[in-house]
Amino acid sequence: MELLQIVQPLLGWYETHARILPWRDEPTPYRVWVSEIMLQQTRVEAVIPYFERFLAELPTLQDLAEAEEARLMKLWEGLGYYSRVRNLQKAARLVISEYGGRLPDEPEKLAKLPGIGSYTAGAIASIAYGKPAPAVDGNVLRVLARVTANRADISETATKRAMEQDLKQIYPQGRAGDFTQALMELGALVCLPNGAPKCGECPLAALCLAKEQNRTEELPVKAAKKARKIEQRTVFLILNGNHVLIQKRPERGLLAGLWEFPSADGSLTKPQALEWLNTRGFHPERLKRLPKAKHVFSHVEWHMAGWLATVPELPALNGLLPAQPDELLQTYTIPAAFKAFLKEYLDFIQSS
Ligand code: ADE
Ligand code: SF4
Repeated sequence: MELLQIVQPLLGWYETHARILPWRDEPTPYRVWVSEIMLQQTRVEAVIPYFERFLAELPTLQDLAEAEEARLMKLWEGLGYYSRVRNLQKAARLVISEYGGRLPDEPEKLAKLPGIGSYTAGAIASIAYGKPAPAVDGNVLRVLARVTANRADISETATKRAMEQDLKQIYPQGRAGDFTQALMELGALVCLPNGAPKCGECPLAALCLAKEQNRTEELPVKAAKKARKIEQRTVFLILNGNHVLIQKRPERGLLAGLWEFPSADGSLTKPQALEWLNTRGFHPERLKRLPKAKHVFSHVEWHMAGWLATVPELPALNGLLPAQPDELLQTYTIPAAFKAFLKEYLDFIQSS
């Protein structure tokens, strides 16, 4: 088959089947950019309310560049992968200093900005500026691997680069943005992952080599990922009256600069937990085990034990900060990894 043959059927299908999504009705460079960054690791339905709130509060690139960090973190709270929003702001500031406040329209320039890779660069250039710039994400890789029955490993960068090159040749003049989104949309709605494509509803069914060869189950080929590292942790809710102690995470690394409950490496027993607390000057009148919780990051899993310690007096605090429920909800950003423990704290305060 010739890849060019997919263009018209895809565009025709997209006209009638595209979902109505808030970033689609006014695809300015800023809106497309923010939406694509949010969509990188988060599902469409989850992104929608975040996108609307973000754009309502920071309607322009200038507003983003000037926003205070705490406000940015609050706007991102729950989306995870916070380096995305930090890079968004860094890039906004660079766009102001280097490009007079206008996002570039060339993918090569876009891809030099923090947080923008070849996928996002292609999405902005094609959707916002109408350039023939492919945006190849997991959805698009899957669709193309199946349509062309390509057995190359889609986790290899070389496979992605080859597909970008092939796509570049067939981008339709004047419909670049629709074509980019049509490919993604087909992957999201019809050419589904895990061996479950809805070929009966697919505009490419007559051309698709995977379908013809009965190989939709085997494609795309994707090398197995390395197993995630598992880390045991013990989280402490140290309560003094209504307050709970929190601390700021280091400025680099996982969940950089966000607030957390103090924690120890390993899964501590009650005597060990008590010793950990005593060493830091805490002498709880009560120490209660909390339900275990788990959080999965891209490269690591935290398996967390938890202890709720009620302390009648606070020693010197060494970077720990007492916070109340309304401050935790409005001022400090506690990442979703600690959600179960945040809820334990709020429930405990409610019930006491
Ligand atoms: N996933 C990534 N980008 C998207 C877009 N523009 N529309 C829908 N889903 C997407
Ligand atoms: Fe995917 Fe089936 Fe369409 Fe081929 S025919 S592109 S496998 S949905």
